[in-house]
Amino acid sequence: MPPKKRPAAQSASGPHTAKRPAAAIKRPAGHQAACPHSVSNFSEALVERLDLQLKVDFDRQVLAGECQLTVRSLQPVDHVILDVLDLEVQEVTKEDGTAVQWKVQKPPGAKANFGQSLTIDLDAEVTKVCVKYETTEKSTALQWLRKEQTQGKEFPLCFTQSQAICGRSLLPCQDTPSVKAPFTIALTVPAALTAVASGNPSGDVVTQGDSRTFKYEQNVPVMSYLIGFVVARLESCRIGPRSTCYAEPGVLQAAQKEFQDIVEEFIITAQEVVGGADYEWGSYNVAVMPSSFAYGGMENPNCTFMSASLIPGDRSLTPTLAHEIVHSWIGNLVTNAFWKDFWLNEGFTRYIERRVLGKLYGPAFRGLLLMVGYNDLVKAVEMLTKQGTPGLTRLEPQIDEIDPDDAFSRVPYEKGSLFLIYLEQIVGGEQAMTDWLRSYVQEFRGRSIETADFKAHFLKFFRTVKRVNEVDWEHWLHGEGLPDFDLSAHADKSLLDECRSLADSWLQSGSADVETGHMKAQQWMLFLDHLINAVVGGKQISEPALAEMDGKYKFSATANVEVSFRWCLLGCRCRWRGCLDLTAKFLASHGRGVYVKPLYLALKDFDEERARSIFQQNRSFYMSVVTRQVAAFLDK
Ligand code: BES
Ligand code: ZN
Repeated sequence: MPPKKRPAAQSASGPHTAKRPAAAIKRPAGHQAACPHSVSNFSEALVERLDLQLKVDFDRQVLAGECQLTVRSLQPVDHVILDVLDLEVQEVTKEDGTAVQWKVQKPPGAKANFGQSLTIDLDAEVTKVCVKYETTEKSTALQWLRKEQTQGKEFPLCFTQSQAICGRSLLPCQDTPSVKAPFTIALTVPAALTAVASGNPSGDVVTQGDSRTFKYEQNVPVMSYLIGFVVARLESCRIGPRSTCYAEPGVLQAAQKEFQDIVEEFIITAQEVVGGADYEWGSYNVAVMPSSFAYGGMENPNCTFMSASLIPGDRSLTPTLAHEIVHSWIGNLVTNAFWKDFWLNEGFTRYIERRVLGKLYGPAFRGLLLMVGYNDLVKAVEMLTKQGTPGLTRLEPQIDEIDPDDAFSRVPYEKGSLFLIYLEQIVGGEQAMTDWLRSYVQEFRGRSIETADFKAHFLKFFRTVKRVNEVDWEHWLHGEGLPDFDLSAHADKSLLDECRSLADSWLQSGSADVETGHMKAQQWMLFLDHLINAVVGGKQISEPALAEMDGKYKFSATANVEVSFRWCLLGCRCRWRGCLDLTAKFLASHGRGVYVKPLYLALKDFDEERARSIFQQNRSFYMSVVTRQVAAFLDK
C-alpha cells in the first residue's frame, strides 16, 4: 500500500507549473509543451536515464522487478509525475534504500483514459528513485504465447510492443515521444530461453540456478516507446558485418536467407539517401517475431522486430526491412514530438525507404512501390470516411483525446510520403531532397519536433527556390481526403500498365490470356488492388471468374502474405463463399493489424456470424491492440 501522506504540489495547476519546454524538446517558445497522451510533468522534471531489472515469470505471465529513474528538476518542483498503466507499484525508495512518498491515481481532470499517474516526491535537483513493481495480466505492451502457440511448440515466448502509448504498462516512465533517455535493462529468464532487448549486450550472461540474466544497454537517448525485448527459445546467425538475426530455430535459416547481405546494402544506401549522416547505433540486428505480431516491423534500436509473416522465401517483402532501417535516422534520431506529428516518423520513412529501393532496383520499381502505396492511401481514406472519422485523413490530425493506436492508419505513411514526393517535384528532384535531408537530420538529431518545425526548416533551407511559394501547406497538412496531386504524372509507370490491363481484361471479359510468369509480387498486389477498387466502385466479378483466376495464378497457395491478404479481401468483397476457408486460415495464422482489421470488416459485411466465430477462435492469438479494435466492431 502507498504511504498515506499526499505528495505535495500534485495537481497540474500547482504553484510551479509555468510551462517551459523540456530539455529534450528544444523548440521556440509558444509551441505546445505538454503531451496530450502523457500525464508526466516532463517540462518540470525530466527522467534522464532508466535502469531496469526484471524477472520474466512465464508461469504467472508477469514481469517483476524494479526500475531506477534518474530525475533532474528543470523547475523548482518537488515531485515527478510518471505514466503508469495497469502496473502494480509496490514500493519506491531512494538510492540509499529509504522510502519515498508516492501515489498512483487516476489523473484528475483527464479527458481520456490513457492510464494513471505515479507521483513521486523529489528532494534534490537530481534524484535517483527506484520503483519496485510488477506488470499485470492487463499490461498491453506484453504478449505471452504458450508453447503450443510458438513455431517450435516447445517453449513459451514473450515480447513487448510499446509504441504508441503502451510503454507505461511495461515500466513507470515519461511515456511521451518528447522525452529521450539512455537506459539499461537486465532480464532474468528461464535458462533455456534467450532475451534480446533494444540495446547492445553489456557484460556476460549470468547463469544462476535455472535462470539466466541478460543485460543490455542503450547509450543513445531514446523515447520510452523504443524500450523493448523478446524472450524465447532463440538462436542467432550473422546476416551482415554489423548484423545478427535472432529467431526460433525452425525459422532461422529462412530468415538468414531472406535478409543476409541486403541488410548491409540497405543500411549503406539509406545513409546515402539521408545525405551521409552517421549510423549511430553500432549494430543493426533483426529479431524474428511470431506471425501474431501486430505489425510487419518495429524499429526497436539494435533489434528491429520483424514478423515471421514477412519471410516468403523470395525477398519480395524486404521493403519492410528497408523501412525499419530508415527509422535509424527518421523516428529514432529525429522524432515526432507528439503523436499528431506521427507522419514525421512514418511518412518520411516511407519516402526514404522507396528512394533506397529505387536506388538499388531502379526507378520503375520505385514507381511500382509508390503506386501500391497510393492504393493503400485510397483504401485508408475510404475506410476512415466510411467509419465517420474523416478528421483522421489529415496529415496533422487532432487526436488529443484519442489513443494513437486507434488513430493508426496508412494515412500518415502514404499521404506523408506523397507530400514529400510532391515537394521533391517542387525543389527540383532527388538530389535537392537529399541535400535538405542532410541538413534536417543534422539540425534535429536527438530531438523531438513538431510539424511546424519541419515546415520552418524546409522553408528556410529552400528560401531561394521560387516554386516553394506554390506549396499549399494548409491543403497538405490539414486537408481531408486524398490530396490534389497526380502521382502518375510524376512516377515511373513502366511496371504499372501491365497490371492495370490485366485487371481490365478480367473485369471486362472475366478472363485473360497473357504470360504473367515474370510479374513481381508488387505487380500482383497492384493487380488485386485494381480489382478490389473496381468491386468497391460497384463492378462485379463472377464466381467462375474468381475460381479461374485462382486456378491460373495460384493465389490461394501464395507464400506472399500481401498477395494472400488482398486475395482474401477481394473474395470477401465479392461475397464469394469459395474464399471463406482460406480467409479463416489466414486470420488464424497472421495477426498484423493492417490485414486483420480490413478482413474482419469485409467479412462482417459478408457473413457476420462466420466473422464472429473466426474471431472467437483466434482472439487469444492476436495482440491486445488488435483484439480490442476488432472487438469494437464485431462484439457490438
Ligand atoms: N513503427 C512502426 C510500427 C508501429 C507504428 C507500431 C505505430 C505501433 C504504432 C513501424 O516502423 C512500421 O511502420 N511498420 C509498418 C511497416 C510497413 C510500413 C513497411 C507495418 O508494420 O505495417
Ligand atoms: Zn515505420
